[in-house]
Amino acid sequence: MKKLLITGGAGFIGTNFVHHWVQNHPEDRVINLDALTYAGNLENLQGIDKSANYRFVHGDVCDQDLIRKLFHDEGITHVVHFAAESHVDRSITGPEAFITTNIHGTFTLLESARRAWGDDLEACRFLHVSTDEVYGSLMADAPAFSETTPFAPNSPYAASKASSDHLVRAYFHTYGMPVLTTNCSNNYGPYQFPEKLIPLVVMNSLEEKPLPVYGDGLNIRDWLHVDDHCRGIDRVLHAGRVGETYNIGGCNEWANIDIVRLICSTLDEMRPGDRPKSELITFVRDRPGHDQRYAIDANKIMTELGWSPEYTFETGIRQTVAWYLDNEAWWSRIRDGSYKEYYKQQYGA
Ligand code: NAD
Ligand code: DAU
Repeated sequence: MKKLLITGGAGFIGTNFVHHWVQNHPEDRVINLDALTYAGNLENLQGIDKSANYRFVHGDVCDQDLIRKLFHDEGITHVVHFAAESHVDRSITGPEAFITTNIHGTFTLLESARRAWGDDLEACRFLHVSTDEVYGSLMADAPAFSETTPFAPNSPYAASKASSDHLVRAYFHTYGMPVLTTNCSNNYGPYQFPEKLIPLVVMNSLEEKPLPVYGDGLNIRDWLHVDDHCRGIDRVLHAGRVGETYNIGGCNEWANIDIVRLICSTLDEMRPGDRPKSELITFVRDRPGHDQRYAIDANKIMTELGWSPEYTFETGIRQTVAWYLDNEAWWSRIRDGSYKEYYKQQYGA
């Protein structure tokens, strides 16, 4: 039986991972530690909070005393570290929280695990969930990011994640800690906070608001359904080689404008209105330092661990749009006063 400390389990990917783990590994104990920032939402975990093997702890990954006590009291054997400030635009307007949570928070967890686990490391694992943004930006015809691509982060968010990846690596080489790192591409799916492109476009379309596309809309991202990401993390946690990093991606590159058009046509079909949703598309000021293209070479996790994505993008987008249509109460509650304030600051009146 594993005793998992999942950090950030009330956010988008963490929520999906907690659901995945409780369903697939009911014998394991799950401690979900989350500070419930604007991005954390306990509503996501309704039902799960009744499971005997699940415990939610409201707390900060930078709180050393709390983390050490959790390791001690719960006998944590596995850490899956999601907690982070995750939005690039917010890192441009306010980088400090990114440095604190993403770097200092990761250090606090690593150090607490090192002290708690001592030399008894055989059955322990520390899995650090990271991003493809650490690798920087690709030209149109450049080969995809592999695990050996040098880091070249371009936003405060990406730089903070790169720093945390380096710390994780250092704890392996210096202390022999049983760490694993995953670097994943853009996720989409249920429970994603509406500041991110796909839920933002779905919700603005439903409310007949402008669909803001940065710059010329030709920036490219590789998209993966969050369930496929969760299965990938599960595989790495069970079978990954300690000290290794694994890229996870969908082999699924899309220009932003094409995704926005795909969502519009999906909604035209699923929730027809008076005019095509694409009429709402509005090109706005570009993101400073906007990375042109991300692409992931996921060959290592595919060949070594037998993982591959199960969703096609078309199926995944339909399922995701349907989820937001069915869960209007969930996102309406999020788009409250504080979210409106952020939206005004980011996009103007
Ligand atoms: P999110 O912003 O939706 O959720 C982050 C969660 O962390 C929230 O529940 C928040 O309350 C919590 N949190 C923030 N600061 C905390 C702190 N100091 N202590 C404890 N909890 C704290 O993020 P997400 O999109 O679910 O991303 C999760 C992880 O996956 C991040 O590490 C991110 O870098 C990584 N990642 C995300 C994507 C993506 O496309 N979203 C892709 C690759 C990697
Ligand atoms: O690549 C993995 C990363 O993907 C994760 O590490 C981050 O946590 C996650 O937020 C995501 O980062 P992006 O910046 O790629 O995601 P976002 O949804 O913010 O933007 C996707 C693309 O869409 C990007 O090129 C910017 C563009 N965009 C975004 C918003 C919010 C727009 O054109 N308009 C928008 O309003």
